[in-house]
Amino acid sequence: MSKRVRKAVLPVAGMGTRVLPGAKTTPKNLLNVVDRPILSYVVEEARAAGIEHIVFIVGRGQGAIEDYFDASPEIEAALEAKGKADILADVRRDLMQPGQMSFIRQMAPLGLGHAIWCARDVIGDEPFAVMLPDMLMAAEPGGLGQAVAAYDKVGGNIVVVEPAPQGETDRYGIVALGQKGALGQKGGDGRDGRLNRMTGMVEKPPLGTEPSNLFISGRYILQPEIFEILATQPRGAGGEIQLTDGMATLMTRQDFHALEYDGTTYDCGDKIGLLRANVAFALRRPDLADEARTAIKALLQGQ
Ligand code: G1P
Repeated sequence: MSKRVRKAVLPVAGMGTRVLPGAKTTPKNLLNVVDRPILSYVVEEARAAGIEHIVFIVGRGQGAIEDYFDASPEIEAALEAKGKADILADVRRDLMQPGQMSFIRQMAPLGLGHAIWCARDVIGDEPFAVMLPDMLMAAEPGGLGQAVAAYDKVGGNIVVVEPAPQGETDRYGIVALGQKGALGQKGGDGRDGRLNRMTGMVEKPPLGTEPSNLFISGRYILQPEIFEILATQPRGAGGEIQLTDGMATLMTRQDFHALEYDGTTYDCGDKIGLLRANVAFALRRPDLADEARTAIKALLQGQ
């Protein structure tokens, strides 16, 4: 029986270059999708997957993230006084219990592998999840919930993947798979075709050298041995300490499975991705869908 996944690491320190100037004074993961910050959806996904503690890896000038997940006595009192119970409930929805969130300063922008390594003391000796909040997932159950279900089946390390758009494999981490459906069990019983043993991975391979079209889409379950590897991991693609390189080393000692999850990913670190997420999430909202559809149709007809 594998140890339960209780903690998730959310690296949020990035500058948000592709969504500037919006991300100049607002951390990019606090930008809104419809009426809530991106992080609200990702934390909700984590909690739905059974996560009890969230570790944010933050950079300078990102204090607003801590404030967002703290109580806001003035706003709450004002809403209470006005009898706005529904908005009050909505404001409080994202709050976890005191002690269930940690905030760690990365101190230097050295890459995703370095960001995750910064969580080592808070994670300790247990498996943990990594969620890249830019990658907003519309899925039921959520992307991380599907990864946890896969982990409960096969243990080890799980990397959530999906097919990359044609010609874009050089923008991501790309995985190589073993035999389709091999679940790491003798006889392959219970194979579902979406969970496959991995045989390799590479960060941002030049076009034409990619081992498959499946990219790492931002949800992982990792064993704590990754930390000792990341501690001495040399810089890789883009001169950064890459998590993908650390995982490739860990794969020489431990099992890795790639899960092709069932859902849609929106890259909110990108202008059009953020726009698509806003439209898609508004259309998914029972209270907004009709009005949103009418507004979008009207805009398109005005073209
Ligand atoms: C990171 C990971 C990459 C993954 C991607 C998903 O890259 O290193 O493996 O595919 O996120 O967005 P980045 O976007 O930080 O360059």
